[in-house]
Amino acid sequence: MQLAKRLSNIQPSLTLAIDAKAKAMKASGIDVCSFSAGEPDFDTPDHIKAAAKRALDQGKTRYTAAAGVPELKQAIANALLRDNQLTYSPDQIIVTNGGKHSLYNLMMAILDAGDEVIIPVPFWVSYPEMAKLAEATPVFVITTEATGYKITPEQLEAAITPKTKLFVLNSPSNPTGMVYSPAEIKALAVVLEQHSHVYIVSDEIYAKILYDGVTHLSIAAVSKAMYDRTLISSGFAKAYSMTGWRVGYLAGAPEIIKAATMIQGHSTSNICTFAQYGAITALNDSQDCVEVMRQAFAERRDVMYGLLTSITGFTCPKPDGAFYLFPSIKAFGIPSLEFCEKLLEDQKVALIPGIAFGLDNCIRLSYATNLDTIREGCDRIRQFTKKHF
Ligand SMILES: Cc1ncc(COP(=O)(O)O)c(C=O)c1O
Repeated sequence: MQLAKRLSNIQPSLTLAIDAKAKAMKASGIDVCSFSAGEPDFDTPDHIKAAAKRALDQGKTRYTAAAGVPELKQAIANALLRDNQLTYSPDQIIVTNGGKHSLYNLMMAILDAGDEVIIPVPFWVSYPEMAKLAEATPVFVITTEATGYKITPEQLEAAITPKTKLFVLNSPSNPTGMVYSPAEIKALAVVLEQHSHVYIVSDEIYAKILYDGVTHLSIAAVSKAMYDRTLISSGFAKAYSMTGWRVGYLAGAPEIIKAATMIQGHSTSNICTFAQYGAITALNDSQDCVEVMRQAFAERRDVMYGLLTSITGFTCPKPDGAFYLFPSIKAFGIPSLEFCEKLLEDQKVALIPGIAFGLDNCIRLSYATNLDTIREGCDRIRQFTKKHF
């Protein structure tokens, strides 16, 4: 069977693969400490579930407009105004099957063969593969621990060519948990304002998960030029613990949203109807649940960061958002996949090799799990490094 040529260059998601392996080991009775999942361990808050159940009981079980029900688009517009001081009309918003689908629709809508997509490394696993599926060329810009794994304005300027179509910005970041400060965002905008052919996708899916009083500035809010050329991608998975609901959105220029809606109209159509009603409640009701989960993540971050960096060999900038640590394992002198495979075999601790995110001298640990698992897992990692290095 000859598969389509466009797949010849695409890698399966290593994060999903490792998470599946850890889950299978657990299911067979093995006591695995898993730090591989990119999803909160909390249940979806009750009032959101109740809204979806109510919608089902009310017969909200039919197709909706492909881009989502008007009440949800309005709730998203209100939230973007409340959280980012950004004004969007309903024709600037499409509701998608998770944040992943909004990014995919966007890339399919604007990228052509030969277009370049600037992707800072380390990156969230799906960006390069989506760009390649759209037949564009990923242009990787390697960041370093010294800059907190953030792209600098100089690096961005040097990477832009006449072929650049899209710059991918993800803050707070998966995998590093780093957050670009408002000054850093503005400095990137200064570069981008000089290159009117470049669009920006700002993946803000972790924007509500911030620590130590840091603030999130959307690059779309910096200037009119940035607003016009930025597409905000976000979703409900992380902040509201709704990973399985598959609700995300894309907000930006009407002609791009119209194109994304056309693609969606011929592929998935609307997302699950009653899930949309849960999402309306998530945005319109009290945001206390978001804060409760954020505080739990903050405590876990402190515990895991303290334990991990007390183990000789790991160095790691302290993350101020999302729920990941991204320590360097350079000191151990082995590739990240080998490190993770050995660790899983030897100590039954599952985490993700940095190579999945483009940096082979790091590993990613998710602390979206309980404190006991964090303590036990770090203890096993300590024993592992003592034994082998
Ligand atoms: C940076 C980033 N963007 C987008 C997504 C997609 O989230 P979802 O499709 O579950 O809404 C994820 C999920 O892991 C992510 O980490």
